[in-house]
Amino acid sequence: MIALHINIDHVATVRQARQISEPDPVTAAGVVELAGADGITIHLREDRRHIIDRDVLILKQTVQTRLNLEMAATEEMFGIALEIRPDIVTLVPEKRAEVTTEGGLDVIGASNIMCDGIKKIRDAGIRVSLFIDPQEDQINASREIGAEDVELHTGCYANAKNRAEFESEYQRLVSGAEFAHKQKLQVNAGHGLNYINTQRICSLPHLRELNIGHSIVSRSIFVGISQAVKEMKEIIILNS
Ligand code: PXP
Repeated sequence: MIALHINIDHVATVRQARQISEPDPVTAAGVVELAGADGITIHLREDRRHIIDRDVLILKQTVQTRLNLEMAATEEMFGIALEIRPDIVTLVPEKRAEVTTEGGLDVIGASNIMCDGIKKIRDAGIRVSLFIDPQEDQINASREIGAEDVELHTGCYANAKNRAEFESEYQRLVSGAEFAHKQKLQVNAGHGLNYINTQRICSLPHLRELNIGHSIVSRSIFVGISQAVKEMKEIIILNS
């Protein structure tokens, strides 16, 4: 079955709006695990706009499933990952002015910092995933640089403006998933997935994990976070 990793960044976004201690993403992680999440994903951004260092430290000790740390490929972040040792490190591109992660990582133009960092992370026994657009050249480069997983960026699919665009973005993801699997990379996907567009994504070939955040945290305002997780799990179970 496809695993559901829940990105709890936006629980921390609400906390940081007041710069106080609630709602605590650590509590959210425990509750979503009890509701059936297969993993917890957090993005420690360079500007610490939502998840902060204290969250990463405590979550490493409390997460019972798997902790996936999303981060930029910088020396600071590689240092933190090597100290904390999450189960998975997902490298993402990061721009200070963006509202959320915009495009996939450019692995073809990987810096020396990225290449060395990936090697150190792998040597420490941590799984490395790269968040990329579903392009063959980026997938090839991901394999060559030593990634075990690729997370295919579903943002263009999620933002498609009409049926034709939706179909063509879906087909790009299908081709990317097939190609990544042939390259012996584990296929994951995420970004912009919600209670409507996740159904189709579940039929992507070789898909192993989904990372979903904003839509689940948004729904939890109305139905509670456990129910929001259960409803997403149900979509995955019915469509896997
Ligand atoms: N995967 C990656 C690599 C991301 O950067 C994000 C957003 O932080 C997500 C998945 C989750 O996206 P969303 O919040 O739109 O579900």
